[in-house]
Amino acid sequence: MYPFEWSHPVTKDSSMVKPLKRIAVTGAGGQIAYSLLFRLASGELLGKDQPIALHLIEIPEMVEALKGIVMELEDCADPLLREIRIGSDPYELFGGVHYAFLIGATPRGSGMERKDLLLENGVKFVEQGKALGEVASRDVLVLVVGNPCNTNCWIATKHAKGLSPRQFFAMTRLDQNRAKSLLAKKAGVGIQEISNVIVWGNHSALQMPDFLHAKIRGKPATEVITDRAWLEQKFVPEVEQRGAVVIAARGRSSAGSAAHAAIEAMQSLIFPTPAGSLISMAILSDGNPYGIAQDLIFSFPCISRGNGQVEIVPGLELDSFLREKLSLVEKELIEERGLVSHLNLQIREKHGRGPLSDHKRSPRYGT
Ligand code: LMR
Repeated sequence: MYPFEWSHPVTKDSSMVKPLKRIAVTGAGGQIAYSLLFRLASGELLGKDQPIALHLIEIPEMVEALKGIVMELEDCADPLLREIRIGSDPYELFGGVHYAFLIGATPRGSGMERKDLLLENGVKFVEQGKALGEVASRDVLVLVVGNPCNTNCWIATKHAKGLSPRQFFAMTRLDQNRAKSLLAKKAGVGIQEISNVIVWGNHSALQMPDFLHAKIRGKPATEVITDRAWLEQKFVPEVEQRGAVVIAARGRSSAGSAAHAAIEAMQSLIFPTPAGSLISMAILSDGNPYGIAQDLIFSFPCISRGNGQVEIVPGLELDSFLREKLSLVEKELIEERGLVSHLNLQIREKHGRGPLSDHKRSPRYGT
């Protein structure tokens, strides 16, 4: 029965003396996780000297299939992977975790916007936020990937008692990478020549991939790509719509690129940002220097000091195009936040009670 546990005998290998880090992944039987888990097990996130435990969470109907993934992880014989737990109860599986990738969510189909998923997915983040608040390590870092990720992240922060909302982040790294790749292609330069590509706002069709502050070979991107019409009318919509275009082509949403971005985003939280670079990260907007409304999970230009200490970089000048786009995306996030109160009401009407009131707790991890 669950949680099923597998563990590798602790080796006497003196090169691995670091205490175990526990990594939780929700939606562990899904496509993104399938691209993520083997990379985590091989040490790509935390380094080749950091032993890890994987806590894999799925909905009850899919948890049995996780056993196949456990077998495959075992078959990789990765020396860093010491323990695997699988199950569907977040109050057990989030126990003691240091890093949580919240991926599990119904993906959008073609013709949908990510916020159309709020009613279905938002409720999962109520419970997950609550469970993280109760049983995760007190310094846990949480990256929300499941859509609509900004507002799902916001929901989780509201229920995670005992954790700071500053420990929660929503992923705009995939958009940042898409923008970077597109600029490199247009300018005919290598990816490594592109820096400071920021995506502002929401992981939605109203996000603002910022070409004003992006750099190509250290020069402003607008001095290298002088075709402003291309930047405004091709580059921006292409990045905004890339997820939908992938769905149309693949019949499924992005998985490999999303997993890649998730690893990079979590690394950006854990390790300091190299001097002179910026990252995009959706974080709590309170106290931001750009006049964006408080209490949103909004993507800003950031730097990380490491261990989840992320700061918004102030002082970037915004032109009228950027300002207008920012106010649209701010409005969208305020509306999504408004939908969440409606969502709570709908759940109550349907079940005659709040979403969490009937949750049966299993015994907690470690007790
Ligand atoms: C993406 O950007 O590819 C993902 O968020 C999936 C989606 O719905 O677009």
